[in-house]
Amino acid sequence: MRLVAIGGSGYLGRDLCREAHARGWEVVQAGHASGVGVPLDVRDGEAVTRLLADARPDVVVNLAYVQDGPDAWGTNVDGARHVATAAAVRGCRLLQMSTDVVFDGRKGAPYVEEDEPTPCTDYGRSKAEAERVVADVDPGALVVRTSLIVGGPGHEASRHELVALDREATFYDDEIRCPVQVTDLARALLELAALDVAGPLHVAGADAVSRADLAELVRRGPVRRAPAPSARPLDCTLDSSRARALLRTELRGVRAVFARCR
Ligand SMILES: NC(=O)c1ccc[n+]([C@@H]2O[C@H](COP(=O)([O-])OP(=O)(O)OC[C@H]3O[C@@H](n4cnc5c(N)ncnc54)[C@H](OP(=O)(O)O)[C@@H]3O)[C@@H](O)[C@H]2O)c1
Repeated sequence: MRLVAIGGSGYLGRDLCREAHARGWEVVQAGHASGVGVPLDVRDGEAVTRLLADARPDVVVNLAYVQDGPDAWGTNVDGARHVATAAAVRGCRLLQMSTDVVFDGRKGAPYVEEDEPTPCTDYGRSKAEAERVVADVDPGALVVRTSLIVGGPGHEASRHELVALDREATFYDDEIRCPVQVTDLARALLELAALDVAGPLHVAGADAVSRADLAELVRRGPVRRAPAPSARPLDCTLDSSRARALLRTELRGVRAVFARCR
């Protein structure tokens, strides 16, 4: 199998490339400003087309994104369109990464794949639009909605873990997410690449916890808590039962992930 990982220089992308390599896949790791991997700007459609023409992948995973600022829409939405178009032309399998914050967290129950996106942040709006564009251009693509990505003990820390160690920081106790361990997620993506499943799929960890709960698991002690501002998503718990039924990889809950260091 030949994989092109766009955004392969990022936190999840590096793990994905490592796991694919360990399975004997040929891997093209595309990065951007970090200088890691083959340089690519997803906002440049011709460059994306050229990369896929040169690499001739079986599978493309698009992880490239910017959280906010002037580059976010172009990277998240135009970039997703460019990748989906090039993947569709070449007939390769596409996995597009998305997020639980395409939902506003006001449903009052776990979100299932059939729920309509209701984003309440600019980031969520850009990812929801990227989902729509990808489904339109490449209906066979899999759109993987996930949650906060963490490393856990013995793994490189994610930015969520690094911020949890900041003693001055305050953490929302009513913003609920289902954090997922990065290698669990990378392995799940490689499994899903080989399955005939399309559209949105929820692939998140088994435990729904607040940002404050997550920070306390990381810090192994109490953190300052506060309610989320009204513009924030609230309970974005993802129901990942469909993915669990498809996968051999276990999507561990964050309590199990961090229990190993106790
Ligand atoms: N991290 C989370 O908690 C979380 C939660 C839910 C969903 N997700 C989704 O999971 C995916 C991966 O997240 P992550 O945390 O691994 O991201 P990350 O570490 O921030 O990496 C982002 C990647 O995007 C690349 N990139 C940025 N601008 C680009 C551009 N113009 N052209 C090409 N590549 C560009 C970066 O390249 P350089 O670094 O080389 O510039 C990097 O490889 C994203 O799609 C995100 O929406 C993440």
